[in-house]
Amino acid sequence: MNEKVDFKGSVILNPVPVVLITSKNKEGKENVFTVAWTGTVCTKPPMLSISVRPERLSYEYIKETMEFTVNLPTSNMTKAVDYCGVRPGRKFDKIKEMNFTMKPGTNINVPYIDECPVSIECKVKSIIPLGTHDLFIAEVVGSHVNKNLMDEKGKIHFENADLITYCHGEYFKMDTEALGKFGYSVAKKPLAIKNSQSKDAETSVKVKNSSPSKEKNNKKSNYKKSSKKKNSSKANLKSKSKKTYISKKKNNSTK
Ligand SMILES: Cc1cc2nc3c(=O)[nH]c(=O)nc-3n(C[C@H](O)[C@H](O)[C@H](O)COP(=O)(O)O)c2cc1C
Repeated sequence: MNEKVDFKGSVILNPVPVVLITSKNKEGKENVFTVAWTGTVCTKPPMLSISVRPERLSYEYIKETMEFTVNLPTSNMTKAVDYCGVRPGRKFDKIKEMNFTMKPGTNINVPYIDECPVSIECKVKSIIPLGTHDLFIAEVVGSHVNKNLMDEKGKIHFENADLITYCHGEYFKMDTEALGKFGYSVAKKPLAIKNSQSKDAETSVKVKNSSPSKEKNNKKSNYKKSSKKKNSSKANLKSKSKKTYISKKKNNSTK
């Protein structure tokens, strides 16, 4: 039995994505800030949420236009991610300072960050005040994905994107080794990840009354095998990513 401690800090749901949110006000001023309180909230229509403190400049811009873009940063952008999360847009031109390449949005009037391999354009549907933060629930109206992340079947290989996560005050690289695939625990045949296609995690695997107890023992190892094969081809990509200094100083109060 594990001895447990009653942890009475903040919400300790970890790890979480960490993203760069771009916005543009009616006068055409652009801003960027870091958000970790974000998540997918609906499949159809595709919707996500961000939680924003009302004192942020980004709050003002997003509320004004009801539009924002979620940009997924890579590990070599970690320092920029942190900077955009500790410097207010009212005092600093973060886009200029971070030398971000801004590309005009195609479905909304908000630019996206070209250096980010994935950018998601959103229109706000509702704002719910919660306390310290207001919850912005938004519909995804379009996205921009680096072509080299997509296979011939249209699957996005996020594992090759060198993304980062945020965990209890620190930034981490995303592991590129898949541990399993949606539904693999009950699948009759081993699920190879090579050339797999999963448009929607909820519907990607058909489950045919299989029970884990009836599975052959080698299923997990087969999965691992194909996973390892794939990862060896990723080694080059991984080594290309720059090593960035990540401050060990914990600062949860920024959120
Ligand atoms: C890792 C990290 C995560 C953050 N997550 C959030 C968040 O989810 N919501 C929020 O309102 N602020 C968050 N912040 C703080 C803002 O990014 C920060 O206050 C920023 O300077 C606001 O910029 P702005 O005033 O230009 O909009 C986060 C900061 C960091 C470093």
